[in-house]
Amino acid sequence: MGAKSKILFIGGTGYIGKHLVEASAKAGHPTFALVRETTLSNPAKANLLNHFKTLGVNLVPGDLYDHESLVKAIKEVDVVISSVRALQLADQVKIIAAIKEAGNIKRFFPSEFGTDVDRAHAVEPAKSAYETKAKIRRAIEAEGIPYTYVSSDYFAGYSLATLAQPGQFAPPPPKDKVFIYGDGIPKAVFNKEEDIATFTIRAVDDPRTLNKVLYIKPPKNIYSFNELVALWEKKIGKTLEKSYIPEDKLVKDIEAAPVPINVVLAINHSIFVKGDHTNFVIEPSFGVEAFELYPDVKYTTVEEYLDQFV
Ligand SMILES: NC(=O)c1ccc[n+]([C@@H]2O[C@H](COP(=O)([O-])OP(=O)(O)OC[C@H]3O[C@@H](n4cnc5c(N)ncnc54)[C@H](OP(=O)(O)O)[C@@H]3O)[C@@H](O)[C@H]2O)c1
Repeated sequence: MGAKSKILFIGGTGYIGKHLVEASAKAGHPTFALVRETTLSNPAKANLLNHFKTLGVNLVPGDLYDHESLVKAIKEVDVVISSVRALQLADQVKIIAAIKEAGNIKRFFPSEFGTDVDRAHAVEPAKSAYETKAKIRRAIEAEGIPYTYVSSDYFAGYSLATLAQPGQFAPPPPKDKVFIYGDGIPKAVFNKEEDIATFTIRAVDDPRTLNKVLYIKPPKNIYSFNELVALWEKKIGKTLEKSYIPEDKLVKDIEAAPVPINVVLAINHSIFVKGDHTNFVIEPSFGVEAFELYPDVKYTTVEEYLDQFV
């Protein structure tokens, strides 16, 4: 085994980014986080940045919109992992341009961390967001940049913590009445953020994940909505009142809902009605499954995750 790749994180202070940075440092990768000057002096970020420093993370001043800073930071590393937010996905062309100019990058992980956007059946506004991620994939491939696309499916904090209830953004999951999308039958995948980070970092120096989609679908985290509700009912020892939202009603609700509820509902439509986490076969030509590659990773199961809310 050669030395562990040096990794630069862009978006490393964000929701999923902080877990990626931590996993990288803990796995022994020389770890660099590009951080804006305004964030370096932001008191709200001080604890996180101090935590990074205690982990040995190198904080590199820079900005997605400052080409020189990007090129300079990229020249110092082997691998770039982006976790910029939804509104900046299209601007990742700036990272692609900087990687091309730097000319030394062995692997780029663009900001994905969700449903496989090449195989989804979303309605607006999720459709456009998925298309933006797909366009970035095509730009990376056109430039011949080596890549891994991480399809992590649903973050547990965004799904299990609320049972993905319409308009609900904070835990706990409902204990009286639950809304179920469609007929509740398609299977979806739920992963704890720390585990997504662990699997992602494992993939960095693995030739099996080169130019592939890395799917994170560990066997104990795959549930239909109906199965998820049944598991939750068993845990709290109570039967919930169930309201099914048929697809045509859900599509109307999406059209009528304000931002960001419409985005979340459209994502839930893709996941729970269309079954976009599980309605295709992972062919070796385009993808690999993380738990099959790294069966020693002790991930948090859906069952274990829900225990904290009982
Ligand atoms: N599967 C799921 O359930 C799920 C849920 C949510 C998101 N996601 C996906 O996860 C990915 C990341 O989303 P997120 O919610 O983790 O993002 P986020 O929390 O909004 O983090 C965005 C990051 O980008 C940084 N940033 C902003 N402007 C920048 C600039 N000009 N230059 C450099 N860095 C800049 C932010 O830094 P500051 O700290 O300085 O602001 C922050 O670190 C997206 O692709 C999203 O679609 C998936």
